[in-house]
Amino acid sequence: MSQTRTRLVMGNWKMHGSLVDNAALLGSLVSGAARAGDTQLAVCAPFPYLAQARQVLAATPISWGAQDVSVHDRGAYTGEVSAAMLADFGCTWVLCGHSERRALHGESSALVAAKAATALASGLAPVVCVGETLSDRDAGDAECVIGDQLEPVLALGADTLSRLVIAYEPVWAIGTGRTATPDQAQAIHAFIRAALVRHGAGQTRILYGGSVKAANASALFSQPDIDGALVGGASLVADEFLNIAAAVAQ
Ligand code: PGA
Repeated sequence: MSQTRTRLVMGNWKMHGSLVDNAALLGSLVSGAARAGDTQLAVCAPFPYLAQARQVLAATPISWGAQDVSVHDRGAYTGEVSAAMLADFGCTWVLCGHSERRALHGESSALVAAKAATALASGLAPVVCVGETLSDRDAGDAECVIGDQLEPVLALGADTLSRLVIAYEPVWAIGTGRTATPDQAQAIHAFIRAALVRHGAGQTRILYGGSVKAANASALFSQPDIDGALVGGASLVADEFLNIAAAVAQ
């Protein structure tokens, strides 16, 4: 792994949590944060719990963010939350185009790129998620699908690309317990890295996500183009999440 890219381990809580459970989880993360060494730690909480994350994580090395953002700046968009609101609130991060949003909410790659641009314009750091389905992979189309997903993001240009993070999350590995092998993940990360290099943004961080656990983290993160992890299920268990961060930090 390149020494010039700061490693990042980010939890995606998805639609999980409660005030009581989060207090325990966040408290344990704060107590154990030193185990992450120089690796950055972050959590993306559901909107109602951002206030709790802000309160508990203020003045700690752990940053926090949201799991989605509106593409609109303001207006009659009931239920939406703008980038300016998230920035006003002190969020650092926002996930854009998680595969569950693409699949369940019909988010197109153009919309995802527009959300990333809106987030950046408000001072947030977007984490743009890409990844192929099992049928894409079985058809030999993984790179083609990911290339299409990346295209509108790459078109944002080098300056923008240098301020966001890409997360490669094969859909078939999310929540399934079936992780990409380190070689499979590295191959796609190298493909994404080459595209970023062609657009003048070779130092943009690329996270791997999909059934990451402490047991498979070291092998994944020894790959040269894997700069950290986007962690779903395992981010809800403090010890497991910190063990992943410790593995990345090695
Ligand atoms: P998982 O989810 O770690 O539970 O597979 C990853 C994600 O969806 O970000």
